[in-house]
Amino acid sequence: MKNLGILLSGRGSNFEAIAKNVAAGKIRDARIAIVISNRTDAGGVAKARELGLETLIIPSKGKQREEHDREVVSALQQHKVDLVCLAGYMRLLSPWFVKQFPQRILNIHPSLLPAFPGLEAQQQAFAYGVKVAGCTVHFVDEELDHGAIIVQKAVTVLDGDDEHTLAARILEQEHIAYSEAICKVLEGKFEISGRRLVRTVTAREV
Ligand code: GRF
Repeated sequence: MKNLGILLSGRGSNFEAIAKNVAAGKIRDARIAIVISNRTDAGGVAKARELGLETLIIPSKGKQREEHDREVVSALQQHKVDLVCLAGYMRLLSPWFVKQFPQRILNIHPSLLPAFPGLEAQQQAFAYGVKVAGCTVHFVDEELDHGAIIVQKAVTVLDGDDEHTLAARILEQEHIAYSEAICKVLEGKFEISGRRLVRTVTAREV
């Protein structure tokens, strides 16, 4: 059984989708061990409590990045977390945090990276006039929205779209992509070659 640790700062719809798939057994042999937020008012925390999950608020306001990260990592370690899932966690992780969980921190970003990193990616894509938008689940490294890509989903931009309708369709895909990525990582049948996540095949599968 693998322990997932969820970090979030907001409404938590990606977390909810993951929780649903864990409960339905679609993410196998995994449980959500802890949901941590840096914000007291995060809607995701209320949802986690409704689901009976353990939650923790570790406020980040007024703290140095690494000082806050040390508290978060210590909570993750206490809950024996194997895989950290950033789900709308509006904090950059310090290099120290990243080192504590090598290739065991995932993030979801609402664009087809490397296009449109940073805030309001859907709006950036819409304003740029792209015809295909989407989302990316990737490993977290020391740089923003940058680590090796695990899953991407494309979303066609329709003529009648505005930035809200586009963001809503991207979000639907996010909810599918995150669980897919978690399953892939937990299954462990991959290696990272350069930036590329490549599936490794066992002798029995050949
Ligand atoms: C999502 O769009 C995600 O891609 C981005 O932050 C948003 C979080 O939404 N990193 P939610 O809190 O999961 O609903």
